[in-house]
Amino acid sequence: MAKRTQTNMPDWSALIPVLPEGGPRARALYAELRRLIETGALRPGAKLPPTRALAARLGLSRGAAVTAFEMLNADGFAESRTGAGTFVAARVPRVAAPAPALQPLPPEPGPPPPGTLGLTAPDARTMRIFRTLLNRQLARPAATHFSYGDPLGGRALREEVAAYLRTARGVRCDPGQVLLTSGTQQALDLVIRAVLSPGDPVWVEDPCYPMARAAFLGAGMALTGVPVDGEGMDPAAGARMAPAARAVHVTPSHQFPLGVALSMPRRLALVDWARRNGAWIIEDDYDSEFRFAGPPLTALQGMDGAGRVIYIGTFSKALFPGLRTGYAVLPEPLLGPVVALRSRTDRYPSTLAEEALAAFLREGHFAAHLARGRRRVRAARDALVAALSPVLPGLRAPDQGLHLIAGLADAAAEAEGFAAAARAGLGGRALSPLYLQAPPRHGLVVGFSGSAPDALGAAAARWAAAFGSGGARGQDPLNPA
Ligand SMILES: Cc1ncc(COP(=O)(O)O)c(C=O)c1O
Repeated sequence: MAKRTQTNMPDWSALIPVLPEGGPRARALYAELRRLIETGALRPGAKLPPTRALAARLGLSRGAAVTAFEMLNADGFAESRTGAGTFVAARVPRVAAPAPALQPLPPEPGPPPPGTLGLTAPDARTMRIFRTLLNRQLARPAATHFSYGDPLGGRALREEVAAYLRTARGVRCDPGQVLLTSGTQQALDLVIRAVLSPGDPVWVEDPCYPMARAAFLGAGMALTGVPVDGEGMDPAAGARMAPAARAVHVTPSHQFPLGVALSMPRRLALVDWARRNGAWIIEDDYDSEFRFAGPPLTALQGMDGAGRVIYIGTFSKALFPGLRTGYAVLPEPLLGPVVALRSRTDRYPSTLAEEALAAFLREGHFAAHLARGRRRVRAARDALVAALSPVLPGLRAPDQGLHLIAGLADAAAEAEGFAAAARAGLGGRALSPLYLQAPPRHGLVVGFSGSAPDALGAAAARWAAAFGSGGARGQDPLNPA
């Protein structure tokens, strides 16, 4: 039987030598192939592509490719075998420092446990509709996919978002003020970098959303944690602690993590403070679609007659985080700087999902999706509360949002509760690390947005059984004993 020639030819569509411009082509190709061999990108014994194919691929004359191969042969880097082709030599002379071995990626983590914050559950009907809308884009693609777009984002989705915000959230806006972003996080980042300067004093709620804190700190802002009580953040305390603040980050509809709504007197005080001080209010309205009782709360932005509120929303909760679609409603004077920053960083958002999402809203699917989502989330919330209540008797079902706080008496109870959660397969996070300056309260922040009620209830019951056996030490973080 004929000896089989080694044919571990690399994928040349992925490994195309990049040649410098100008100069003799044969030498350039020789040098680049030699570099690939010396660094181990081309392994000993690997088959080189036929000279004709390589020359065509690189736009060289065949003669140049033949000469390069002859040079590799002559220097001992390659061996041509008649009828079989040219191969990287089995033993390469003077091999330079070997290329670092590629580290395999760590295994994918398994699905996050029920109770993890930020999850959403796929809704079969929504997924079907989305598939149809995406397919429609692929079958009859909008012209927007094939040219460079508006740095504010696609017009169709901006119109839908503006209409939704006006009717559902009481936001005063037109599509020209809506900036589509890769979630809240990009909106925050763009606003912070375009509007504020490193060192600027900024208020955040205490405790606060850690990703907002990270965005401000990463941009060099000087943060003051303004205490939150049963009425939300206290602007009077903020004015005492950092009177010259240039901006404030708030979650007025549903404070993250404590879950309170900013009271009307505090809303008025905050808007008034911002107007008098020329400060910006960054309103993070992340989960207001999920209100289970009482009238919907309107956005702070709608109460502000002075144009000091930058409103930020997201589809991460209402639909799913993988869409990476959020939006900011920008006061007129901020449009220029924010849009300039967007266009020089990522130019404009991806258009494919954007068009499908615009159709999802325009054709009325969003409202129906939210109604189904509210029912699902509410059932999961009830299962969670039912399972936790025997050991945390004071626990009340929140009438808004996608998480609750299982308040605990002290740091020891929190540490124990958190360890018990890991053992019980219940997700969530500890409350106290979310504080900046205020004396921390303790507890577990547990999500109920992304899990089936049974699975969440079962995990919470396991936690209650494990933790409660040591004598539960619950305490409402907003009304400590
Ligand atoms: C307070 C707050 N804002 C915004 C978000 C959503 O962030 P993004 O839109 O970047 O996914 C979350 C998600 O957990 C949140 O808790």
